[in-house]
Parts: sequence; structure tokens; C-alpha cells
Amino acid sequence: MAKVTDQSFDHDYDGIKEYDNPLPRWWVWMFVLCVVWAVVYVPYYHFGPGMLPTEVYDEDMAAWLAAHPPEPLPDEAAMIEMAADESLVATGASVFASRCVTCHGPDGGGQVGPNLTDDYTLHGYSRAAIVKVVNDGVPAKGMLAWKNQLSRQEIYGVALYVYGLRGTTPANPKPPQGDPIVDEPVPAEGGAAAEGTPAEGTPTEGAAEGTAEGAPAEGAPAEGAPAEGAPAEGAPVEGAAPTDEAVPAEGAPTGDAVVDGSAPTDQAAPTDPPAADAAPAADAAPEAGESP
Ligand code: HEC
Repeated sequence: MAKVTDQSFDHDYDGIKEYDNPLPRWWVWMFVLCVVWAVVYVPYYHFGPGMLPTEVYDEDMAAWLAAHPPEPLPDEAAMIEMAADESLVATGASVFASRCVTCHGPDGGGQVGPNLTDDYTLHGYSRAAIVKVVNDGVPAKGMLAWKNQLSRQEIYGVALYVYGLRGTTPANPKPPQGDPIVDEPVPAEGGAAAEGTPAEGTPTEGAAEGTAEGAPAEGAPAEGAPAEGAPAEGAPVEGAAPTDEAVPAEGAPTGDAVVDGSAPTDQAAPTDPPAADAAPAADAAPEAGESP
């Protein structure tokens, strides 16, 4: 301990005198050591090769992730298989209700987030594309990456649920954002779609209904999907492209999808409910714009 002296300083401020009371020596030494330590630490860790704790953490995490890569996201075919699981989709509906409505609206009509029911998309309209955007998010735009908060099953479920929202009619739809959804043709039968085969009264079940309500012009390849049970109400179905040879085999082509632009007479697509789940077949559909 520094010796406490009895001395006061000379100065005197309005009668207040300062007593010369030196700091304890141990305190002074700690202070000096801290300064010396800082001179070493700051250049080394903040500007030199030393790694700060957050950097060490990031490196560890990167190493761990490299050693344990996450399971790859499923492709469209795998998602279509999962779509058959109704309880999964039901889980998705409840996840949507608890996690997504704040930004996408209770019926998917959109609020902060885009309208999920219309025929426009920012990040792609396929089950797999939705899984991806839900999983990874779009952090810069305010869409969260849900992979840290939801299980994979929940993500698949909610993605399937969202996929099915297209074509529903929300109470307060947000105006479209993004690009019109273009359904791709099935590679093997590519191009067939443009011919619009299913329309001309091909007599499968569903076609009648489809055309009745979807009201495409005669012969137009529009919405009336021909597959059995596919379009509940003339809904666009993401699905296989019909072949050139018209009369699609039962259940095979599930439809002509939404054909934005390829069905010149039908602009009503957005209001048609999606019949997504009814589409068992391929994941693509006629390409829009190929027809007149
Ligand atoms: C905090 C607000 C917010 C929440 C919560 C939210 N989203 Fe989003 N979401 C957004 C925004 C904003 C976008 C648009 C991103 C962009 O502009 O690129 C978006 C985009 C999307 C898209 C892509 C739409 C398109 O047009 O391609 C899907 C699909 C989606 N969200 C699904 C979900 C699901 C499922 C949930 C619940 C698990 C969810 N979102 C929760 C804000 C949110």
C-alpha cells in the first residue's frame, strides 16, 4: 500500500481542498499491466493473425458443417411422393398458420410477404423451389430461413401446403410480384403442349368439368385438364403435358397447367384453385407461350 500522507495540495477552490491520496500500488500495477497487455493484444488479435472468438466459432462451425453436410433438399419427384402424405400437408397447414401468416396473410394473400396464391412468383413455383426458399429464406428481403426453426418435415409440409395455395382466392390479394409462372414441358413429350390436345373435347373425366368452368375457348389448350380427377374446377394443374395424340391415357397427363400466356383466351387463371395434389404425374407442364 502506498503510504497515505497527510498532505493536501496547495490549491483551494472556494474553500475546497484536495487531499493528496495516492492510488494503492497494486491498483497502479494492474493498470500498467492492462496497458501493456492491450498493446500486445489489440494489434495481434484485432489487426494481426490472432483470431477473435467469433472467428474461431465461425471456423469451427464451418468445419463441423463440412464434416456433417445437411441432407440435400428433395427434388420435385421426391416432393410429389411426399405430397401423397396427407398428414404431412396437414402439418404444413398448421405450420403456415403459426409461422407464416404474419407476413403472407392467413389465406396466403400476402402482406409483407408476397401473395402465394397468384400466378406470379419471385423464386419459382414448384414444390422443390418452395422448399428451397422456405429452407434458405431470402434474408435480404425479409423472408426468414426456416431451416433453423423448423424441422425438415415441417418445411416439406408447409412447402406442399403453400404449393397448394396457388389459385385460391384470398380475401385481400396483394398485387402480383415477380414473374409469371411458366410451367415447363415434360422433356420427353416436349412441345406437345402447344398443340393443346386435351381441349378438343377429349372425353376423359375432368375434362368436361375443366372446360366447363375454366371456360377456355374451344380447342384452346387451356385449363381443362384432362386427367381423371385432376382439376376440381377447371383448375390449372401442374402436371404432365398432354401428348400430341390427344386422348391422354387415363391419369397420365394431369393437365395443361396454368399456361399463362399459352391459353390466349383465358386470363382467369389466377382465380382457379390449384389442383396440385391431384397431379400424380410428371412435374412439368406445357410451356407457356408456345401456342398461338
Ligand atoms: C417476416 C416475414 C415473413 C415470414 C414470417 C414468412 N415470409 Fe415468406 N416471404 C417473405 C418475403 C418478404 C418474401 C419475398 C422475398 C423476396 O422478395 O425475394 C417471402 C417469400 C416467400 C416465398 C417465395 C414467394 C415467391 O413469389 O417466390 C415463399 C414460398 C414463402 N415466402 C413461404 C413462406 C413460408 C412457408 C413461411 C412460413 C414458414 C414464410 N414464408 C414466412 C416474408 C416472410
